[in-house]
Amino acid sequence: MNWDKYFLVLAIIVSLKSVSLESEAIFVVDDNDHEDSGHADPNSNHKNGTRWAVLVAGSNYYDNYRHQADVCHAYQVLKKGGLKDENIIVFMYDDIAFNTYNPRPGVIINKPHGPNVYEGVPKDYTGNNVTAYNLYAVILGNRSALTGGSGKVVNSGPNDHIFIYYADHGGPGVLGMPASEDYVYAKDLVHVLKKKHEANAYQRMVIYIEACESGSIFDGLLPKNISIYATTASNGSESSYATYCPGDHDYGSPLDEYDTCLGDMYSVSWMEDCEKTNLRKETLGHQYEVVRRRTAHGNVQGTSHVMQYGNMHQRNDLLFSYMGSNPANDNFISISDNYVVHHDHDHDQSHFSSSVFSTALIRQRDGNILHFWHKFHKAPTSSPEKLEAKKQLDEEISRRSHIDYCIYKIGKLLFGSQENSSKVLNYVRPHGQPLVDDWDCFKIHVKTYEKHCGRLSIYGMKYTRAIANMCNSGVTTDQLVAASVPTCSIASIN
Ligand SMILES: *[C@@H]1O[C@H](CO)[C@@H](O)[C@H](O)[C@H]1NC(C)=O
Ligand SMILES: *[C@@H]1O[C@H](CO)[C@@H](O)[C@H](O)[C@H]1NC(C)=O
Ligand SMILES: *[C@@H]1O[C@H](CO)[C@@H](O)[C@H](O)[C@H]1NC(C)=O
Ligand SMILES: *[C@@H]1O[C@H](CO)[C@@H](O)[C@H](O)[C@H]1NC(C)=O
Ligand SMILES: *[C@@H]1O[C@H](CO)[C@@H](O)[C@H](O)[C@H]1NC(C)=O
Ligand SMILES: *[C@@H]1O[C@H](CO)[C@@H](O)[C@H](O)[C@H]1NC(C)=O
Repeated sequence: MNWDKYFLVLAIIVSLKSVSLESEAIFVVDDNDHEDSGHADPNSNHKNGTRWAVLVAGSNYYDNYRHQADVCHAYQVLKKGGLKDENIIVFMYDDIAFNTYNPRPGVIINKPHGPNVYEGVPKDYTGNNVTAYNLYAVILGNRSALTGGSGKVVNSGPNDHIFIYYADHGGPGVLGMPASEDYVYAKDLVHVLKKKHEANAYQRMVIYIEACESGSIFDGLLPKNISIYATTASNGSESSYATYCPGDHDYGSPLDEYDTCLGDMYSVSWMEDCEKTNLRKETLGHQYEVVRRRTAHGNVQGTSHVMQYGNMHQRNDLLFSYMGSNPANDNFISISDNYVVHHDHDHDQSHFSSSVFSTALIRQRDGNILHFWHKFHKAPTSSPEKLEAKKQLDEEISRRSHIDYCIYKIGKLLFGSQENSSKVLNYVRPHGQPLVDDWDCFKIHVKTYEKHCGRLSIYGMKYTRAIANMCNSGVTTDQLVAASVPTCSIASIN
């Protein structure tokens, strides 16, 4: 085997690091915090109003186990919080629980030694019904626009609270969906939210998004005056991170058994926080801080910046208003931070504020490489499994070089030189500005590229910024076609 080719894999393995960090005491929830906002009183809020939730896992395949695990887990949190199944709408491809690679058929976990989160999850939109189009129809409560699925939609009224949670791969300006040709484009999603607001179909909404470059979904796009508060796992120009990954021996056997990451850093942070607190006492702003800290401190290099957008007054709202609260947590008050994952046995366990958080984190987009690598590594020499894993690894690596090559070459053709091209294509607009001015151009350019050069796929989504920058610098569709055709008809597509 030619080991040089696997530098990428090795770089990933090397980056798996464990860190210890002292947990910091986080501010105590100040009960006066929400009083002057006038709308966060838990009792007045919900005498007349329903809590709705839309949960979306945007991926499929076993190497993306974690996204569906996150979404199933979110369902359990909300269910325990008291939301009814009729008000929780789940999008998941549903190819994990009974996947042939799943060591525990019918079971999905979201952390090592964790409970089965698959139990009872409503299968509203599964398989080919998990599309951007259906997501918009569900949010808008427009049953006649649906194509497939259970028909459940957010049939909400002016007093209702809506929580939307999405987990998957993304790229600048886009979120992935497993079954449709189309991505969720930031501009389309925000347009749907504005329409929902115009329809007077909610009182307040909260959106949590885990994906690479997820800040770009709202940056410069989400208005502050439509009663929506959103947080994202990463800013507009960085990866988000998977966690509970194989190779993290601190957690022992379940991970060796799994060969795939079980969760995502931002996602498990908010959910594990919810599971340890009385949500009648915790504000959105407090949870943001807990999640931001845990996500940022995930490893030595620092991981992603958890961001917030929209109406900042909603930071004073109680989580209870959107997620309910598990009565079993009534006695928990969030006086200390919640990111204690497991205790270091070398430390004095009675000292509550001193604990160790230890994990292996990998970039979202490297999750599949890690999965193939582990399969390869574990399989007996010259077994069919080993050959299959090697083939998958090789294919992924050549798919990546194909995409790298295409973008590089197209850029050079468009901008004359490598230097000029990288200046334009890599440019990151300042925080607060949308990714692109002309979103129609962006969508057409993405489609044009994919038509001639193949799907961007998980890895290639990182290049949507380059494509957006082509629009921002005035590249026309004809010019893009002229550069793509010679480039991509030569480069072989794997
Ligand atoms: C609930 O709120 C709606 C809209 O404000 C109102 O029309 C309705 O009477 C309320 N119902 C109850 C039971 O308070
Ligand atoms: C619902 O969707 C259908 C089909 O796309 C559309 O014709 C109709 O106008 C939509 N209804 C509303 C209320 O937006
Ligand atoms: C999609 O929805 C339709 C209509 O509910 C259903 O018959 C079909 O089985 C669904 N497809 C998948 C793959 O779940
Ligand atoms: C929100 O603010 C923008 C910009 O100031 C304004 O154009 C828009 O009409 C406002 N929307 C609502 C719903 O108040
Ligand atoms: C976004 O993340 C990148 C990479 O981590 C960092 O260099 C940049 O400063 C961040 N920008 C903002 C606005 O947080
Ligand atoms: C690169 O950009 C500069 C400034 O826009 C331009 O003068 C130059 O001709 C470009 N180089 C090529 C090879 O097109």
